[in-house]
Amino acid sequence: MVSLDLVMGRRALPSIDPNFDLSRHLKTWDDLPRPWDLTSLYGRLAPLEVEVGSGKGMFLQSAASGTPDHNFLGTEIARKYAQFTASRLAGRELKNAVMVRCDAQRLFAELLPDASLAAVHVYFPDPWWKKRHHKRRVMNELFVKEIARTLAPGGSLHFWTDVKEYFDASLEVIAAHTRLLGPLSVAERPAEHDLDFRTHFERRMRLLDEPVYRAQFYTGR
Ligand SMILES: C[S@@+](CC[C@H](N)C(=O)[O-])C[C@H]1O[C@@H](n2cnc3c(N)ncnc32)[C@H](O)[C@@H]1O
Repeated sequence: MVSLDLVMGRRALPSIDPNFDLSRHLKTWDDLPRPWDLTSLYGRLAPLEVEVGSGKGMFLQSAASGTPDHNFLGTEIARKYAQFTASRLAGRELKNAVMVRCDAQRLFAELLPDASLAAVHVYFPDPWWKKRHHKRRVMNELFVKEIARTLAPGGSLHFWTDVKEYFDASLEVIAAHTRLLGPLSVAERPAEHDLDFRTHFERRMRLLDEPVYRAQFYTGR
């Protein structure tokens, strides 16, 4: 039996040893290379995948360890989650993953070059439930245009949420303002073990037996 607190993820984040060196895995907005340069972040050139709002970093850890020939950049606006995720990446000595504490919308608008990304991942973005707050949602017209601009030929956008209305609205915005191909729907895969979920929020929703809406888009080649 899984405890509710474990399911809901309400436990405080573990504290991070202040002597633990996060310098390689945790960057601030000011640390980012200008002009954009992957070699200074990863020590190598490789296809880059960006996650928007990494939270506790489950996706970043598993994707970076499962796809070692790609570079991964997690973005997170909340300092405590950015630090937590960076500590996990550092603890696993993942050389192909970096966490940056920043607003992902600013990163795309100001730093990421055209056609520079192999994939963009947006998992369970904050729903901003009230109608008057919908303008704060990340899946907005400007941002989906930025995603389409920065994806390289053959690149993909992965968007999952548990909020059906947000899902439908986002698919409409993507169709109206980009030429991305899709959506392809992504089938739910049974979890093979307790950590076999793409993100912490996916785990939470599935353990609560709530639906998750998943879509994938592609650029043409
Ligand atoms: C609902 S949580 C989902 C976290 C994770 N993707 C998951 O599925 O478990 C959304 C996360 O996005 C972060 N966030 C919200 N707006 C952001 C932005 N503009 N740039 C980067 N991170 C953002 C929040 O701080 C929060 O950690």
